[in-house]
Amino acid sequence: MTPTTASIPARAPRAALRPSEYTSALIQVLRGSAAQVRGAAVLEIGSGSGVVLAALGAMGAASLFGVDIEDDAIDEGLTLLRELGYADIAKIERGDMWLPTAGRRFDLIVANLPHFPMLPIEVKGRLSTWSCGGADGRQLLNLFLEGLAQHLAPGGRAVITHNAFVSVESSRAILQRQGLALRIEHTFLVNIPDVKLALLTPGVLAAETGRTIHCYGPHAFADMHIVEIGAAENFV
Ligand SMILES: C[S@@+](CC[C@H](N)C(=O)[O-])C[C@H]1O[C@@H](n2cnc3c(N)ncnc32)[C@H](O)[C@@H]1O
Repeated sequence: MTPTTASIPARAPRAALRPSEYTSALIQVLRGSAAQVRGAAVLEIGSGSGVVLAALGAMGAASLFGVDIEDDAIDEGLTLLRELGYADIAKIERGDMWLPTAGRRFDLIVANLPHFPMLPIEVKGRLSTWSCGGADGRQLLNLFLEGLAQHLAPGGRAVITHNAFVSVESSRAILQRQGLALRIEHTFLVNIPDVKLALLTPGVLAAETGRTIHCYGPHAFADMHIVEIGAAENFV
């Protein structure tokens, strides 16, 4: 199989699935450990545009499995992976979080889950399922962390985006109960556009402003971590 790259895009990707700065940050950190991706069985929960799986394919992953709840995302992701020559090793299934992967384990699990603390409302042409993490932002994040140990192969790891204003300590506690631990690999400053700031759960905004949310006049930014998760004994 020879993956192909085109200098001129052959088609316009769906606007609602355009990659975000979270996507960029996740790919940047994954590229930093590309040697560990070679030969890996990879899963992405919430594969959206498919671009993170495509990047992992380019790093030499042995297999690419995506899960998403939106039909458009399945279609968009599969189209991208086929165009790039990964059809033989790629699969994307429609389903809720871990359901399509029952009984399966992966060397690398990645996710940029919707975990913005807000109620389900569309933001700027995105489906609400793109960003909305429920009032505390943890609705899907908790499900992801609670299911992780059952899906990581021995020695496997997960790499995910994690807003700093969605308690990292709560995530650590969930992982600890499963013998897993997390390490913050990188912290990026991301812009919170006005429309999202207006939807951010007021209690979270009040508690986190000046801590993990930084406002300069009308402009708001937040710390966003890329965290790596693995067996606790590997994170001493
Ligand atoms: C922030 S986007 C990330 C997409 C992808 N990483 C990218 O950069 O294109 C979150 C994705 O999670 C998907 N999603 C939302 N709820 C889900 C669920 N319950 N199970 C699986 N996927 C879900 C959304 O449809 C969306 O594609």
